[in-house]
Amino acid sequence: MAVVKDYKFLKDKILGLTGVDLNSYKEAQMKRRIDQLIDKKGIADYPAYIELLKKDKAAMEEFLNHFTINVSNFYRNPEQWQFMDKEVIPELIGRFGKSLKIWSAACSTGDEPYSLVMALSRHIPMNLIRIYATDIDKTILFKAKRGIYVEKSLEDIPKDFRAKYFTKIEGKELEAIAKEKGNEDLRTLRVGYRISDEIKSRVTFKQANLLEPRDYPKDYNMIVCRNVLIYFTEDAKDAVFRRFHDSLVKEGVLFIGSTEQITGYKDMNFTRKNSFFYERVD
Ligand SMILES: C[S@@+](CC[C@H](N)C(=O)[O-])C[C@H]1O[C@@H](n2cnc3c(N)ncnc32)[C@H](O)[C@@H]1O
Repeated sequence: MAVVKDYKFLKDKILGLTGVDLNSYKEAQMKRRIDQLIDKKGIADYPAYIELLKKDKAAMEEFLNHFTINVSNFYRNPEQWQFMDKEVIPELIGRFGKSLKIWSAACSTGDEPYSLVMALSRHIPMNLIRIYATDIDKTILFKAKRGIYVEKSLEDIPKDFRAKYFTKIEGKELEAIAKEKGNEDLRTLRVGYRISDEIKSRVTFKQANLLEPRDYPKDYNMIVCRNVLIYFTEDAKDAVFRRFHDSLVKEGVLFIGSTEQITGYKDMNFTRKNSFFYERVD
């Protein structure tokens, strides 16, 4: 079905309804994703879709899930985590001690902040580890707190951690969990893996928007923000990097995705350790 393509109309309405400013996301990619969703639902145009979003909570959730692109897995790009383990964490401990303040920004289903807890536990006693983890998407934060994963997202976890911190759930136990409200996504799953409370207890989740300056905390030793800025426009990305600079302490480190280089990093007072780790200079 053809979709009337007044994207400005859609952006204005979405901003009013959700507070999400689509102007900061790359237009071609975002519009294509939204059009696909609307087409799939057999809706004629943007005004009709907006009316649906106003009335139907499930449709609104579906929209938010669709635009946020929540793909994640543990130890995503393992070689970067090895660098963090060997170089970055020891250096941060040398500079700031063991009570590090670490922020996983755009944490999705929790794979990233939980991986951080495991990685840090090689260097720091578990009771000293604290991770602040944020995402714009409430539904995804619910899944992060729930902590049940499919086998595929566990593939890159070091074997000892996988054996120590995950329990297999299946059969009646999994069925019972899948029946609970909010767990509909588990209904087709045959086997799941639950992360331990010991790991979970080290992470505090909160809803926060990277496009909202007041959602930025202060005095962090490391910020991990990966695989979200690729969806932002250059201007929005630039603003986020400058705010990350201000959220870090001097010599604090920013860990980004491998395809998200900061082009003007010197002007923003960062130095580059390699293509995915940057350090605040002043
Ligand atoms: C592809 S996931 C990345 C997850 C994880 N960082 C990783 O690398 O595996 C992108 C996440 O960014 C979140 N996101 C999108 N826009 C955001 C915004 N404006 N503020 C905060 N989070 C946002 C989405 O909800 C989604 O969970």
